[in-house]
Amino acid sequence: MRLSPSLLSADFSALFEDARRVEPLVECFHWDVMDGHFVPNLTFGPPVVNSLRPRLSRPFDVHLMIDHPLQYAPQFKVREDDSIIFHVESDDDPSAVLDAIDAIPARAGITLRPGTLLEEIERFLDRTAIVLVMSVEPGFGGQTFLPEALERIRALRTMIGDRAIRIAVDGGIHPGNVAAVIASGADTIIAGSAIFAQPDPAEAIAAFRSAVE
Ligand code: DX5
Ligand code: ZN
Repeated sequence: MRLSPSLLSADFSALFEDARRVEPLVECFHWDVMDGHFVPNLTFGPPVVNSLRPRLSRPFDVHLMIDHPLQYAPQFKVREDDSIIFHVESDDDPSAVLDAIDAIPARAGITLRPGTLLEEIERFLDRTAIVLVMSVEPGFGGQTFLPEALERIRALRTMIGDRAIRIAVDGGIHPGNVAAVIASGADTIIAGSAIFAQPDPAEAIAAFRSAVE
């Protein structure tokens, strides 16, 4: 299991300190970029992510919940082993967005809302390093996991076949349901409130690990 804490639930006045504290315990960091159009919430964008990039060593997964990903993806000054993940429902041609991410260069990821058919992303899989399955409606942390995501992970695993594509799952995951998510075929777990909204994030991470042992 790769654990990717979502900094959406961190203390924004101490983003670096919150991230630094858990960095030795996790495999990567998840950044939820929201624009107030694609989703009804605003968070942070390239200046914030870029300022933290040189100060942290784990790979970044940048989850773009925005329209115009073609315009904004190139503004992220990320590393080659970082992922830029965009929504197939956004207003740009997915092939053009994949080209823009390749040019950064960064790993390309694709994601979709819980109600969007998996078939919408199928033709892009050959160009994708990671697929993010949303297990809540994108927009806010702290929502309840949608159980139908488990069947979707299984279907995606079949669709991916023997391609080397990671399956990440995002939304409502906690130590009580993470084992089912992993058993369905996911390899990367995003968790925000179940880590940063806990009194001891390190203890919360340990609970995730022991739940999947
Ligand atoms: C939701 C975001 C998630 C969110 C997960 O729009 O994409 O990454 O931060 O938060 P929790 O783990 O609290 O559901
Ligand atoms: Zn996310």
